[in-house]
Amino acid sequence: PKAEFVAELLSKMTLEEKLGQLNLPTSGDITTGQANSSDVAKKIEEGKVGGLFNIKTVQKIRDVQRIAVEKSRMKIPLIFGMDVIHGYETTFPIPLGLSCTWDMKLIERSAQIAAQEASADGICWTFSPMVDISRDPRWGRVSEGSGEDPYLGSKIAAAMVKGYEQDDLSKNNSILSCVKHFALYGAPEAGRDYNTVDMSHIRMYNEYFPPYKAAIDAGSGSVMASFNEVDGVPATGNKWLLTDVLRKQWGFKGFVVTDFTGIPEMIDHGMGDLQTVSALALNAGVDMDMVGEGLLTTLKKSLEENKVTIEQIDKAVTLMLNAKYDLGLFHDPYKYCDDKRAKTDIFTAASRDEARKIASQSLVLLKNQNQVLPLKKSGTIALIGPLADAKENMPGTWSVATKMENAISLLAGIKEVAGKSTKVLYAKGSNLDYDETFETNATMFGKTLHRDNRSKEELLNEALKVANQADVIVAALGESAEMSGESSSRTNLEIPQAQKDLLNALLKTGKPVVLVLFDGRPLVIKEENETVPAILNVWFAGTEAGYAIADVLFGDVNPSGKLTATFPRSLGQVPIYYASKNTGRPLVNKEGKFEKFRSNYIDERNEPLFPFGFGLSYTNFSYSNLKISSDKMNFGGKVTVSVDVANTGNYDGKEVVQMYIRDVVGSVTRPVRELKGFQKIALKKGEKQTVTFEISVEDLKFYNSDLKFEAEPGLFEVFVGGNSDAQNKVSFNLVK
Ligand code: IFM
Repeated sequence: PKAEFVAELLSKMTLEEKLGQLNLPTSGDITTGQANSSDVAKKIEEGKVGGLFNIKTVQKIRDVQRIAVEKSRMKIPLIFGMDVIHGYETTFPIPLGLSCTWDMKLIERSAQIAAQEASADGICWTFSPMVDISRDPRWGRVSEGSGEDPYLGSKIAAAMVKGYEQDDLSKNNSILSCVKHFALYGAPEAGRDYNTVDMSHIRMYNEYFPPYKAAIDAGSGSVMASFNEVDGVPATGNKWLLTDVLRKQWGFKGFVVTDFTGIPEMIDHGMGDLQTVSALALNAGVDMDMVGEGLLTTLKKSLEENKVTIEQIDKAVTLMLNAKYDLGLFHDPYKYCDDKRAKTDIFTAASRDEARKIASQSLVLLKNQNQVLPLKKSGTIALIGPLADAKENMPGTWSVATKMENAISLLAGIKEVAGKSTKVLYAKGSNLDYDETFETNATMFGKTLHRDNRSKEELLNEALKVANQADVIVAALGESAEMSGESSSRTNLEIPQAQKDLLNALLKTGKPVVLVLFDGRPLVIKEENETVPAILNVWFAGTEAGYAIADVLFGDVNPSGKLTATFPRSLGQVPIYYASKNTGRPLVNKEGKFEKFRSNYIDERNEPLFPFGFGLSYTNFSYSNLKISSDKMNFGGKVTVSVDVANTGNYDGKEVVQMYIRDVVGSVTRPVRELKGFQKIALKKGEKQTVTFEISVEDLKFYNSDLKFEAEPGLFEVFVGGNSDAQNKVSFNLVK
């Protein structure tokens, strides 16, 4: 009945009404979601709007929906979207942090809770998951993705889609997902947001496309086109990308929405005037125009001039109506407008509790010399730093629906978790940096950061006074939330100088220092890694971050997060990632010493500071007895790799056991290794477990120079361990 219902509706629509379905204006203020501008209301009444985004609350959404279904001629309900990126009011870690859990169940659950809350507040469509692979931490939106690896990124993409859509959009607590930003948005030149992307097809297919495809295979109902160009044509107007790859090769059946003003931005890309770029977008495969109003205002003329066809317009409208049908909006336009659910389902104690647990799993322990951590719940702790008492900084970028006043600061979290027998002293110590750039840029979504007017000496003196009274110093330093995220590219990835100076002064006290490092990207912390005994990387872990960080600092939770993006030793190494190519002149000496006429640097080693997959625990895990079931595998067969993992330390803990494969010889050059399996296991102290991985020919396939996805016979090496630098190795031959 859907096809008939939609066709019948379509047959009754005027051209103007059809174009209206393709139009997605914003409701105005992104934080308050006021949609009361009479302009938008009038357009809805005239049938010129297909959906709205960034409007929230049942009451406002009901009011707007009422205009559509009672006052417009066709009475077609609107679809309501929002950037529900890492939670709704209950906010989870930024996606980069979430990915470091390597726990697909938890990631899926976070999306499910986000869907539950958003749908209880009237929203039925999220602009998530963001699955852009990125290997360039200069790019601020590294924070919004799942890191550098296509295999892990694909698993996460699928888990997020499942969490939001729950394989059933007819429910009132599942929401439509939107895979973004299609495609290659994470690879802009020089790490500068919105900049040119230029990439070989073989790299696209092998390294950047897989997570988009995985999300689509998992059933995601919509795709957002990216701002960047692909092969010299902006993605928004790129027919090869939006039609040939997405629909013909991958079989995508949902609708494509542009990013914010993606169509008119093609004028600045140099693709023509608004009419030209709007026709280009429609012909390429765009179905909905976010904010640009190019489709709404120019397609009539383009149709008259035969620059687009009515079939193309009808196809786009049909896809929009299909989505509304699948969401059940024709049956009940107010399906997501339940006043009771709005009161009972959002920011509940149970959801916050889950968010706290998930957040604690996202933290990555980078260093723990002399077991400074976990902290004792006694004595005196000096908590110092500009990010220590900044609750509005905890949720992280793109937390559109978060009520910042509800977030838990690190100071509040530590006080609560440390308990009564611990004295907690606090001082700010410094501003974010010596000039106010970072505070003034931190105003997105209500994250205004307070700048202290005291002099640097006054701030430091207060901090040293506090530090000198303590047994241990916890320094809360790093980036503010909006130093990463959209349009926050950086050319310097170090901790800002004012905070570095503070840290050095604290180290000089001779007290043990724990660096709690806030960031939305891998930072360059080579110096800190040399001087500070303990470093806990905490990203921006959501509304419950303060509790979650404290849970880990005091050992109530043993850290188990593992990096999903390489931490460079130096900015000059960027882009840096583990799955690199060997080159014809690899550096072979193990010490990383410079060698003339080899692929290396005269002033820095090749290796990163912390590799992909790295993360410490309060306990130790040892790997032994790596075995493979056979040294031969045929195309229809399988081999099994097993390894014994033992918890040899003093705490119960979790370990992410990772398997990497190297295709030693190929018809095209192959990465030095690629992640092909992982398992997160829990081991009590003293416990040992055999972990097994099955390898089939599917795991060995790659896109060759004909862009055929095939495996090639020959030698394969398999590495298993606790990070991407694992050295334990077995091998087998794939034989015809
Ligand atoms: O969803 C976002 C996108 O990621 C960046 N531009 C704006 C969109 C809508 O807010």
